Amino acid sequence: MSSTSPTSYDELPYADNCFPYSHPDNLAVVATLYGLEPPALATCRVLELGCAGGGNLIPMALTLPSGTFVGVDLSARQVAAGQETIAALGLKNIDLKAISITNIDRSFGTFDYILCHGVYSWVPEPVREKILAICAENLTPNGVAYISYNTYPGWHQRGLVREILNYHVGRTTGSPRDRVESARVFLETLVRAVPRQDTSYARILQSEMEFLRGVNDSYLFHEHLEETNRPCYVHEFCDRAAGHGLRYLGEADSEGLIEALPPDSRAVLEQWSGDRVSREQYLDFLCNRTFRRSLICHNDVQPATVPSASRIIGMFVSASARPQSENPEITSDKVETFVGRRAGAVLSTNHSLVKAVLTALYEARPRALTLTEIKTQARSLLGRDFENVGQGPTVADILLKAHLGNMASLHVHPPILANDIGDHPEVSPLARLQSRTSERVTSLSHRTVELEPFDRAILPWLDGTRDSAQVLDAVVNSVLAGDFRLEQDGQQLLDREQIRKLMGAELELSLARIAEAALMMHSTNNI
Ligand SMILES: C[S@@+](CC[C@H](N)C(=O)[O-])C[C@H]1O[C@@H](n2cnc3c(N)ncnc32)[C@H](O)[C@@H]1O
Repeated sequence: MSSTSPTSYDELPYADNCFPYSHPDNLAVVATLYGLEPPALATCRVLELGCAGGGNLIPMALTLPSGTFVGVDLSARQVAAGQETIAALGLKNIDLKAISITNIDRSFGTFDYILCHGVYSWVPEPVREKILAICAENLTPNGVAYISYNTYPGWHQRGLVREILNYHVGRTTGSPRDRVESARVFLETLVRAVPRQDTSYARILQSEMEFLRGVNDSYLFHEHLEETNRPCYVHEFCDRAAGHGLRYLGEADSEGLIEALPPDSRAVLEQWSGDRVSREQYLDFLCNRTFRRSLICHNDVQPATVPSASRIIGMFVSASARPQSENPEITSDKVETFVGRRAGAVLSTNHSLVKAVLTALYEARPRALTLTEIKTQARSLLGRDFENVGQGPTVADILLKAHLGNMASLHVHPPILANDIGDHPEVSPLARLQSRTSERVTSLSHRTVELEPFDRAILPWLDGTRDSAQVLDAVVNSVLAGDFRLEQDGQQLLDREQIRKLMGAELELSLARIAEAALMMHSTNNI
């Protein structure tokens, strides 16, 4: 059944995003760490429920060409936009359908990975039940399903502000953007006007206002002004899943993971909790969690209760952190700091092997290394062998901790990308397409990259048909044509040779940035 009546997502489409944690590679990593044998990535079948315009699914289909990808969404407008992108890229392994989740049945077939991001809390009760029913009926025996949802206790605070904004906006009329603007202005005014600024109420309003300042209109509209937004406790989610013959496997995202807790909090948590689910619930009480990205599997699959470092053998690892100093001291006792990609992820250590491992990953970025490669690099950075020298964590222990602490990313099927620019630089066709209308593009490692203006401007020429000198010609011609204005001492530069010299240096930096952002592919012309 195609949707006929326009939805709120037709009115104000959701921003087209990719979600690294929902990538089947990450789902397979979590399943493997918990002792399972997840389906092979190269040929996997993936279903996304509520796929919007395919911002998450299309990049997966592009980078896993032998996989099969099906997305469904009620919003015909979003699906049509996704279909246009698929046609422009010539992808044959992906199908987006403008139908309701409630119309999926057994005849849809089975899938190794079922993804449902940002939908479960935002749909009416029957659809929520149906999402779990699909995970039970349409998931292959060792498949993994990902469902994200708003959770309590964190959402009690956010829900307070949602109710206040809904009341106010309910009294106004206008387009979705008008209503968002009205909500923003109202909240800012309310925060200033609250008479008792020293109360917890004032502090809650203030912190939610700051949070909402950092989100886009589409997010605010669909989180705070959407008709349905029903968070739940993790234990409620797991009970419901159990009712469908499904069990909790783990979290796709290591944020707020038990392993990442400080030792004192962890000890208290262990006292409170019994089984796996109650541990997760008490964890949320400790961390005041607002959002979960939970993985579930069939009940007859028996995951371990904790992730195991021994399962890392055979995986690949890429950097998620950079050393703060330009030349980290590996062999001395000096404390070095590594800064993770995620806000707040910081690690300071004087442990030589940890420093060597993280530095080796950083130097290889964005490429993922095998365990053997990491050991070889670490040995060379340390200037000595480190195995069989007694106690201390193994490289696998270090990598597991680094992965859980957002300092490194594990992969069972690493992204295929080029580390260097090659003879004929070629950027992912999806990123080139996206850059026509946005500075936000999706990398080959399934992350959103904010392009610098110059990088965005040159992307169309990086299609593998030009060598670096020809790309530079195109840049110079573009400057001469007036597309960019180059100045020296306040004067516009018009001399071809001077422009070439200046732009040559700029281009070199730009190409390096683009490669580091995991946007560069191996071009067939580079051979
Ligand atoms: C908050 S958006 C999330 C979109 C996307 N997964 C993301 O996170 O960017 C919720 C999506 O679910 C879709 N949706 C809501 N009810 C649905 C239903 N019954 N069947 C299919 N899609 C539905 C909406 O159209 C919308 O695109």
